[in-house]
Amino acid sequence: MERLQKRIAASGIASRRKAEELIKLGQVKVNDQVVTEMGFLVSDKDQIKVNNKLITKVEEKIYLALNKPQSVICSVKDEHKRKTVIDILPEIYKEFRLFPVGRLDYDTKGILLLTNDGEFMNHMVGPRSGIEKEYLARVEGVVEFKELNPLIHGLEYKGTSYLPAYVEIVSVDREHNSSLIKIIITEGKYHQVKNMFLAINHPVKKLTRTRFGVVTTKDLLSGEVRNLTVHEVKQLIALSKQEKNIRKRS
Ligand code: URA
Repeated sequence: MERLQKRIAASGIASRRKAEELIKLGQVKVNDQVVTEMGFLVSDKDQIKVNNKLITKVEEKIYLALNKPQSVICSVKDEHKRKTVIDILPEIYKEFRLFPVGRLDYDTKGILLLTNDGEFMNHMVGPRSGIEKEYLARVEGVVEFKELNPLIHGLEYKGTSYLPAYVEIVSVDREHNSSLIKIIITEGKYHQVKNMFLAINHPVKKLTRTRFGVVTTKDLLSGEVRNLTVHEVKQLIALSKQEKNIRKRS
């Protein structure tokens, strides 16, 4: 619930003070009843008209970076009642209609953006958005660099093609028969990283997204969230406009 004058001001048609005047003058209706009481409380479901014109709420644009923990589902609601990324946000963000930007699997952790800005979302996840996503994958087996060739050159797996990725062996654990691989991709296909490693017979055991464009997990503990800076939002939009191209690194 919020005060009527605040809701009118949030619609962008008048300042809070002007909204109070409109209310005093009897020019405001709530559910077709004139309301002149200052501080009258309204909910999202109430219909508000100013001079018989329905007003709509202009939501503040929110851009968040969440360090998603494992065992949290990347959607707004879950029919199996699992915890969602919206459930774990601090209370202050609950009034906004936020959506996850793309998906991370239930068991994947790391950086996830959330927003209520549909246009920004399209820039980030559209088919032409070449934004780099960086992951650390703990995979089964001791990986030799030459085995990573299909990932470097692009590959097809079970009818889906994947663009070339940047890969690097971070470490190998001979004792536990596993390897830690850094991989940077510019697409966001379903189970992309897991499928790329399945294609070379090194299934992923654990996956963490450490970077989305310019946004990293740095300074964000698991489950923590922060607002993106205006500069970060601008940089992300600029990156999405650049040609889809993985930079050559040596
Ligand atoms: N690739 C995957 O396979 N899973 C994710 O969660 C993200 C990328």
